[in-house]
Amino acid sequence: MRMYDIIDKKKYKKKISDEEISFVVKGYTKGIIPDYQMAAFLMAVWCNGMDEEETLSLTMAMAHSGDMLDLSMIPGTKVDKHSTGGVGDKTTLSVGPIIASLGIPMAKMSGRGLGHTGGTIDKLDSIPGFSSDISDERFIEIVKTVGFCDASQTRDLAPADKKIYALRDVTATVDDYSLIASSIMSKKIASGADAILLDVKCGNGAFMQDRSSAIKLAECMMNIGKLAKRQVNCIITDMNEPLGNTVGNSIEVIEAIDLLKYGFDSDKVDKRYSEIVLYVCREMVLMSDIFKNEKYKDMTEEERVSLAEKLVRETVDKGCALEKMKEFIAAEGGDSNVVENEDLLPKAKYIYEVTFDRDGYLDKVDTKEVGMASLMLGAGRLKKEDDIDPAAGIKLFKHLGDKVKKGERFALLYTNKEETIKEAEDRLLKAYEVSNEAGSSKNVIIDILRQN
Ligand code: URA
Repeated sequence: MRMYDIIDKKKYKKKISDEEISFVVKGYTKGIIPDYQMAAFLMAVWCNGMDEEETLSLTMAMAHSGDMLDLSMIPGTKVDKHSTGGVGDKTTLSVGPIIASLGIPMAKMSGRGLGHTGGTIDKLDSIPGFSSDISDERFIEIVKTVGFCDASQTRDLAPADKKIYALRDVTATVDDYSLIASSIMSKKIASGADAILLDVKCGNGAFMQDRSSAIKLAECMMNIGKLAKRQVNCIITDMNEPLGNTVGNSIEVIEAIDLLKYGFDSDKVDKRYSEIVLYVCREMVLMSDIFKNEKYKDMTEEERVSLAEKLVRETVDKGCALEKMKEFIAAEGGDSNVVENEDLLPKAKYIYEVTFDRDGYLDKVDTKEVGMASLMLGAGRLKKEDDIDPAAGIKLFKHLGDKVKKGERFALLYTNKEETIKEAEDRLLKAYEVSNEAGSSKNVIIDILRQN
């Protein structure tokens, strides 16, 4: 087999076989196929696409390129969730304890933040003592005993994807449905879960800018799931503004805990955030073993959905999810007292109030820019090697559609680097459009797609 012939085939829109795709992925991962040939191949894929079979072959070849986590020692259906990334997305931090408190095992591998998007592991690492770098044995043990574990992707999971993604990043070949879907799904399949809920973000803070492209990506990933015998459902959610009231690390942990403490309908919790958490949990419960019980077999879909939502609400209202949060933090070495006392989390030296210089309504926001302003304060990283400041970030007091008044508090900036404040403030204010007419906020849940 020659790489040249495979590139040539794709260039002329011919179908490439499972063996050929496996040859490409293995050869590139081992360093036998050089970057220039792989770059040409990726561009041919970008131009001419891949069909379902080719996309599945690429996914499975990447998934099997490194370690495959075996979760079979944990009884029952293991559920996982994944978000395609956004600004202020702390959903996993509330979802994990809720799901585990319902007796559903959730085994999750999360990543760190890069660029304008945050990463769950960075948020968790802001808890004193917390360590997400744990062995497979300990990971499985925590899922078995606590019900939820979130570990960093330090394992050699889908190394082919890591290498191919880095090349896509510099060859303008990231934005292709088959390539994105196979990249995400290869990591999910290697992580071992049986049922996966994908939160596909859509809007100016996300990869997919509009509903139809988000649905196309979601369908592509669901199809891979079906062929790979994993249950995959998707929710499409809005990312045309940051999610919730906080963007950062320790301040996002506090917001996630507040939802478990005060409940879905509390005024202390952002409505859009609580809605996403409720829907994600509800969908995960629907995929779990709970509904495989005989007693539910004659229920209509509507009845199942309503029962799943009731269970999610109850476990939060009874305080079970909050207790589970403490157990989860302690199991990964963290100080679980942070749940009752947020002052134990890292605190920023400087807290700066941001106001607008005019009255009006928040009409639009460049979500990525809010993420970049938070990054400048120290909450994110431009390069993988950069350090982050767990206390840095932005707390927002207004959302799209809200009225703002001249001089009224709009946001607080948190940082330990005083010199970053001015530029972050400018960037944040410029990100927003203020209009004279009252607007409205968009629905946060756009669509729900379930595998048949
Ligand atoms: N996230 C991934 O993991 N891969 C992509 O290609 C895009 C988003």
